[in-house]
Amino acid sequence: MKTYSCVLLLSVLYGLFSCTNQTSSSSKTPLTLKEAYKDKFLIGTALNTDHTNGSEKSTTLLIEEQFNSIVAENCMKPEEVHPSENIYDFRKADQFVEYGEKHNMFIVGHTLIWHSQVPDWFFENEDGTTCSRERLIERMREHIYTVVGRYKGRIHAWDVVNEAIDDLEGLRKSKWYQIIGEDYIELAFQFAHEADPNAELYYNDYSLILSHRREEAVKLIKKLQKKEIRVDGIGMQAHYGLDYVKIPDFERSITEFSALNIKVMLTELDISVLPFPTEKISAEISQKYEMLPEFNPYTDTLPDSIQQQLAQNYVDLFKVLLKYEDKVSRVTFWGVNDEHSWRNDWPIEGRTDHPLLFDRNNQPKEAYYSIIELGEAVNNTKKQVL
Ligand code: G3I
Repeated sequence: MKTYSCVLLLSVLYGLFSCTNQTSSSSKTPLTLKEAYKDKFLIGTALNTDHTNGSEKSTTLLIEEQFNSIVAENCMKPEEVHPSENIYDFRKADQFVEYGEKHNMFIVGHTLIWHSQVPDWFFENEDGTTCSRERLIERMREHIYTVVGRYKGRIHAWDVVNEAIDDLEGLRKSKWYQIIGEDYIELAFQFAHEADPNAELYYNDYSLILSHRREEAVKLIKKLQKKEIRVDGIGMQAHYGLDYVKIPDFERSITEFSALNIKVMLTELDISVLPFPTEKISAEISQKYEMLPEFNPYTDTLPDSIQQQLAQNYVDLFKVLLKYEDKVSRVTFWGVNDEHSWRNDWPIEGRTDHPLLFDRNNQPKEAYYSIIELGEAVNNTKKQVL
């Protein structure tokens, strides 16, 4: 029975499904994203304050209709909640959590320890000199205890450490690393667990389909596990471009991470349709390039051929995610619609990108229908088999 169902399931996943002009045709009410994948994994989105303060009504309706998990795009980062040593500002973060609770969302806090969007005061003495290891550890503990403690039992999971792996080799030599040393990572997880023993704790990073980054991430998790420090999952940010992902590499990352007996999730999924200005593609936030017309080809509409290519790219990823649905706990898109996406301003400011499932008018794109129909096809096959 089991083998038969797998074969049938895989045939749906691999054989029958390719994107050819997927527009919603059937008369029955189409499932939403969260409904199509409800027995498989959470479907989330990153929110900014305009989404949680109700100022974008149509987008907020879309969020509540389509998604069952939310993550804070910016309002929980150190520079936002802890702008100076003795000042915390939780107004936006409180609003975000209240919004999530009101709509029964799986709420993810992002992020406690990162090399970007963290104020300099963390690393300096009053006279501007670099602070000591002990002082920075105390500041990290106080920050994590205060932020995680405030939302104890309300935030379900935290991206504890973000982007600690270097693009070339080993761990990133951030100020956290330089001042505290490599053990800043385990200390961050330890403090987060002490602050809320029931919250899930994740390590989050980009380009984890690249072999050296995958190996470094496995090493990092194994180190934490060896010291019996709680780590519940690994977040693959998944900031991709058209035809950038080699599916075998993507699949290998999911299998190698899940072999560590931790959850695997896509935490910041988007697929840019725009040319990347250099060969070396990385999601390193500090990259910036000059605008050239050839780097911004779709300022009006997205040609059908690119819509289809984007849809096929998303379907290829979701086929793998469905194959490992028992290992994958969540797929979060880094933004609600194309208007909102950070890809419009990175790595070149002021471009018109189309990386998500909903266009600038919150209208579902071909990629949306393709993912829904893949989920439906798998559900129906299961029903037939079971
Ligand atoms: O809040 C200020 C506002 O006061 C000011 O008027 C405005 C004008 O410059 O800037 C606003 O800050 C911006 C902030 O987003 C909030 O909107 C920063 O300039 C801008 O750089 C920042 O961009 C965020 C970026 O992280 C910063 O690193 C993006 O929205 C956010 O999507 C992006 O998210 C990161 C993840 O956290 C980690 N992984 C990569 C991902 C993309 O870089």
